[in-house]
Amino acid sequence: MKAELYQAGSESPRRLEIEPMTAADLPAVLRIEALSFSTAWPLNAFANEIRDNKLAHYFTGRLDGKIVAYGGIWVILEDSHVTTIAVHPDQRGLKLGEEMLLKLLDEAIAQGASWITLEVRESNDVAQKLYRKYGFTTVSTRRGYYSDNGENALVMWAGNLKGELYAARLRVLRGALDAEIARRPPNGMG
Ligand SMILES: CC(C)(COP(=O)(O)OP(=O)(O)OC[C@H]1O[C@@H](n2cnc3c(N)ncnc32)[C@H](O)[C@@H]1OP(=O)(O)O)[C@@H](O)C(=O)NCCC(=O)NCCS
Repeated sequence: MKAELYQAGSESPRRLEIEPMTAADLPAVLRIEALSFSTAWPLNAFANEIRDNKLAHYFTGRLDGKIVAYGGIWVILEDSHVTTIAVHPDQRGLKLGEEMLLKLLDEAIAQGASWITLEVRESNDVAQKLYRKYGFTTVSTRRGYYSDNGENALVMWAGNLKGELYAARLRVLRGALDAEIARRPPNGMG
């Protein structure tokens, strides 16, 4: 039988290596940012967030030592807010965005949040599908929120993050994601 999972002793699967974002990460983050958003955040926006904003928690994800994803949240007491999330266009569809979103949710919960919100472009079906998978639902629309093209933003929320129902949902999703990760080719083979 052909082994589906990479066994102990073989190379490990390509799990995203997620660490807090540092100033040294910003050139790579800005490259992905420019490829991902029509209105890109400038360097000082990220620099201020990671240096000065005590409510902010930003992370980068590496594969083979190279930054391929990043994301950030703010946590204000029981409320949290996904401020950004992106994966390099060459690496999308490999569940890396999902790994990063799960990290942001774990961090929000670890910091004591019960609720998490975000804004997403009405046309961004891919991101909306990812968020819905993790229990986000649309609660309102901000008309003309995006200044570049006047597009509406959907405001989505998920919670109660501390409740048993959400914990059970995360357990199931984490298990399925771990199984996907185990099927990824190991480092150097992907
Ligand atoms: C949104 C984004 C982070 C998703 O990352 P990704 O690594 O490509 O997505 P993943 O492979 O982790 O997929 C996870 C889920 O996202 C959704 N998804 C991903 N690619 C999709 C596609 N092509 N079509 C529809 N849904 C898709 C699905 O729900 C998928 O789960 P499923 O396969 O079990 O259905 C990535 O597309 C991105 O960087 N986009 C540009 C920046 C952006 O729009 N950020 C969000 C701002 S609000």
